[in-house]
Amino acid sequence: MTWPGCVSELRVRTTGDGSFSLFSDRFGEGFHSAAGALSEARNIFVGPAQLERFAPGTTLVVLDVCVGTGSNTAALLEACTDRGLMLLWRGLELEPPPLRLALSDPGFCTQWRPEILDPLRQVEARGCWTSPLGEGQLLWGDARGQLPSLIGELAGQVDLVLMDAFSPRRCPELWTLEFLGGLAALLKPSGRLLTYCCAAAVRAALRQLGLELAAICGCQQRWSGGTVASPGPLLAVDLGVDLSDPDALPAEVNNWLRPLSPMEREHLATHAAVPYRDPTGQAPAALILDEREWRQRELQLAGQLEPTSAWRRRWGLG
Ligand SMILES: C[S@@+](CC[C@H](N)C(=O)[O-])C[C@H]1O[C@@H](n2cnc3c(N)ncnc32)[C@H](O)[C@@H]1O
Repeated sequence: MTWPGCVSELRVRTTGDGSFSLFSDRFGEGFHSAAGALSEARNIFVGPAQLERFAPGTTLVVLDVCVGTGSNTAALLEACTDRGLMLLWRGLELEPPPLRLALSDPGFCTQWRPEILDPLRQVEARGCWTSPLGEGQLLWGDARGQLPSLIGELAGQVDLVLMDAFSPRRCPELWTLEFLGGLAALLKPSGRLLTYCCAAAVRAALRQLGLELAAICGCQQRWSGGTVASPGPLLAVDLGVDLSDPDALPAEVNNWLRPLSPMEREHLATHAAVPYRDPTGQAPAALILDEREWRQRELQLAGQLEPTSAWRRRWGLG
């Protein structure tokens, strides 16, 4: 099914776990991993948030970047409700059709309890919601244009940023040092930015912004499922184990997070780690990609940073 007339052409698809998702022809990418929209929401955006850190009755301040179908917010609302937590919620999203399509799909609606769907329905109807679960507002349009007002409202107060833009190659404008810097400015010292993205350019930018990084435990030992970044400590425990062999990494540090492996850390010293830049906050995607390639070539000529191909060979990545 397509949704003609919206900025992006969208097609409905069902993911591996049977949950509802979309594919965007404009961005050439699915909204969720093929494994499952629901399992991705729970394993990347809810579990690693470690809601057990918060006492029942707490109101969490949350920003959902790229709300899309609302799956991540719905999964978070569900988990918060079960723990007696409430939300002060803000969402950023380019356009209404993804949420509209989701809420008109019977399969999507049966995925969630009525009290979880209610805030999404209110957002679709009037851009904001209030319910026994908390309150929220969605800011429509290019997230880059909305971020300054959010910083004015919530700098240093946000517990969780759910960062779910399309991949950096498809949507570089939301993975730049400048945009990530704005998200970092929102976080409380104990706040967490959660994302499926493991790209070296993104991790290096988050580190450059002074955030501590941890990998989200994935289904494979070698590759992580995503990244968590925080102004404060994430992995307080001293593992006391030899991390030099990626295949011998401890399966899980705390069920959800582990340190970056040596392979992942070395990735941050390659050309792949050159950040995307957008000082004006308005550059088109193609310009951001071209400008980064130009800087990568300059660094290569200057012999700075290791070529990513050498890193791949060293780790047997083909
Ligand atoms: C990967 S999908 C998000 C999936 C979503 N979290 C969900 O659970 O359905 C990326 C979303 O980013 C939105 N988007 C793309 N460019 C954007 C921009 N510049 N500002 C805000 N949203 C944008 C798209 O409309 C799309 O809904």
